[in-house]
Amino acid sequence: MATNLRINGERLWSTLMETAAFGATPKGGIRRLALSDEDRMVRDWFRAACERLGLEVSVDGIGNMFATRAGTDPSARAIAFGSHLDTQPAGGKFDGILGVLAGLEVMATLADAGYETAHPLTLVNWTNEEGARFAPAMMCSGVYAGELDAAPMMAGVDRDGRSFSGELERIGYRGREPVGERRFAAFVELHIEQGPILEMEQKTIGVVTGGQGLLWFDGTITGRDSHAGTTPMPLRRDAMAALAEVALAIEGIARAHGPAGVGTMGEAHVLPGSRNTIPGGATFKAEFRHPDGAELTAMEAELAARVAAIAAQRGVTIDVRRIWRKDPITFDAAVVDAVRGAAAKSGFPSREMISGAGHDAFYVAGTCPTGMIFIPCWEGISHNEEESATEGDCSAGAQVLLDAVLTLDSRAA
Ligand code: GLV
Ligand code: MN
Ligand code: MN
Repeated sequence: MATNLRINGERLWSTLMETAAFGATPKGGIRRLALSDEDRMVRDWFRAACERLGLEVSVDGIGNMFATRAGTDPSARAIAFGSHLDTQPAGGKFDGILGVLAGLEVMATLADAGYETAHPLTLVNWTNEEGARFAPAMMCSGVYAGELDAAPMMAGVDRDGRSFSGELERIGYRGREPVGERRFAAFVELHIEQGPILEMEQKTIGVVTGGQGLLWFDGTITGRDSHAGTTPMPLRRDAMAALAEVALAIEGIARAHGPAGVGTMGEAHVLPGSRNTIPGGATFKAEFRHPDGAELTAMEAELAARVAAIAAQRGVTIDVRRIWRKDPITFDAAVVDAVRGAAAKSGFPSREMISGAGHDAFYVAGTCPTGMIFIPCWEGISHNEEESATEGDCSAGAQVLLDAVLTLDSRAA
């Protein structure tokens, strides 16, 4: 059903700026790791804001938050939208947050207008999308979808040895709703693109048709500690030098599978950590991504071969353990069409694209018709405190979210 409802861009911007205080960094970003005190604060704010709008808030056993507005058809499943409120350790003000707060703005716009939908509408804050503190990313949408087991996720520990389940209890967000019990008629996630394409092409809306696959792995390198001044170069078993070669192998494999393939070693620790001791140990966390699952498999096999060669040549052992794989996904044609139509309705320049970043929508797509909306971000920069998006683009994204949801409401049975 076509409506003339307009979201309030200024109100959306003010909630983005208000909640950016929870975990604000001096450089203008946010540090709001999953299940931290800052996460608790923004959750409390979010719950109160939803309740002020008359939404019914429920929390499931892994901390996912659902805020529901009733529809007129009691037999209809909810149409859902949302994203995540957690951030990277040095994250920005928009990654994830925009999708949740734009959803809140959709709810506020409907409330102001007294507009009734047939379907209930549910706004979701998925727990731990970033996977920075507890791996993997998109964790709790993955458990919701039944693709990840809850028990190992609950048992996961951060680098200080604190468990996911303990932290979930500590911040008071282990809810009573069974995980995955509720299912939706459709799900739409609004997000900044986190890449440069929309800005470069001066498009306001990305109509997202799918997302690339991800492969995460943890590695351990074991050599031998020894004296930096006395150990001749040929006798060294230097874990740091091996680590450097592994990092370059990951980069080289990604380039060989380019331009679509990407690979990153994003974290590494060298032991024992002394200038004049040859490091005997190293650990690292790394990933590959590619829109083609077969390419991802080939990249993993190539890494195994390169790692074996580096280990043999340097007299170290290198253990690489895959901890997560999410295959590429294709979004639902009807939801993609609703997003495309919503962008056209407002006259926003748009283009179709696939997502380079991972999103909760990838897992939700396994449970109901799903799609995504992208807006541009400054220089395509994300996972960075300088991440930024304009008020106008955030507002456009929220408007497309509202219109896509209303289209789905009028179409879906
Ligand atoms: C999610 O933040 C990702 O790494 O794509
Ligand atoms: Mn995100
Ligand atoms: Mn992110």
